[in-house]
Amino acid sequence: MTIGEDLRALEAESLTAVEGATTLDALEEVRIAYLGKRGSLTAILRGLGALSAEERPEVGRISNEVRRALESALDRRREALERTARASRIAAEAVDVTLPGRARPLGHQHVLHQVVDEIVEVFSGLGYRVAEGPEVELDYYNFTALNHPADHPARALQDTFYARDLSGDTAVVEGESDVLLRTHTSPGQVHVMESEKPPIYVIVPGKVYRRDVADPSHLPQFTQVEGLVVDEGVTFGDLKGTLEHFVREMFGPDRRVRLRPHFFPFTEPSAEVDVSCGICGGEGCRSCGGEGWLEILGCGMVDPNVFGYVGIDPERYTGFAFGIGAERIAGLKYGVPDLRHFIEGDTRFLHQF
Ligand code: PHE
Repeated sequence: MTIGEDLRALEAESLTAVEGATTLDALEEVRIAYLGKRGSLTAILRGLGALSAEERPEVGRISNEVRRALESALDRRREALERTARASRIAAEAVDVTLPGRARPLGHQHVLHQVVDEIVEVFSGLGYRVAEGPEVELDYYNFTALNHPADHPARALQDTFYARDLSGDTAVVEGESDVLLRTHTSPGQVHVMESEKPPIYVIVPGKVYRRDVADPSHLPQFTQVEGLVVDEGVTFGDLKGTLEHFVREMFGPDRRVRLRPHFFPFTEPSAEVDVSCGICGGEGCRSCGGEGWLEILGCGMVDPNVFGYVGIDPERYTGFAFGIGAERIAGLKYGVPDLRHFIEGDTRFLHQF
């Protein structure tokens, strides 16, 4: 074989090797085998020097052709292999955008918070401002400044959670520094009147605590929205009009409202307000205790003695106050026959609102 034939044979062999390489690494091995420092083609090219001057141009031309052919075959094969590699990488990384997403359950506001917000909304519409007071109170704010005499039954251990040692049955000696869980939001009235001058139009929503056993219409922890107005010339008529507006806004025009004379130490005169039962429509059922009416709030004209505790002039100002039971309102609004549902946290109940 002449050296030219050797070169052509090498060309054919190397091109077959290029086509047979199925990975970029294998292709690189082929390149090294022929064109590397110790490659077969390189070896032949190195031998060119030993040829005669007549042979050299011809063999030089062929070897250049062979090298170019091999190089371009390598390039084409490399591109093809890269394309395949890219395509399979893209296929592996592909995201199926048609897969349905995973729905994450979204929480929502507790029905009681919704109802408190609605109550606040009604009074905001009348120009009332929202205030807040502490749930852990002093006896002074919860009772004394609200005109409760020292021996008032509401102060009794049976009704109020005190933050003190309850061991033994030593008689309770009430003192103004006693710490307790507020039994109503009315101490909020005292805080507001201590820090603000009339005219005052506020509501105070919040949790309150009583030593009651839970039953369909009582809870040991419940929610009130206190209202307080102090201004010149405020009358019981204003109170009644305000509460009727509130009931209409909350329940619509069909429910009936009634005021019953009542007693609270801090209002005079006082009343309790009932709304006709939405479950039995006034017939009497379990949730209204057979009455046909449900009590939703207590109210009255601010007692001048209370003004005395906070330094407001009772000759110049009058006021009214009310305390709305939010669980009662929610129960009436949605026909929930047992207030315990509101605190049990059963999601089958809560999801309905
Ligand atoms: N604080 C009273 C209660 O909890 C309700 C009330 C508030 C009554 C304001 C009169 C005025 O029963």
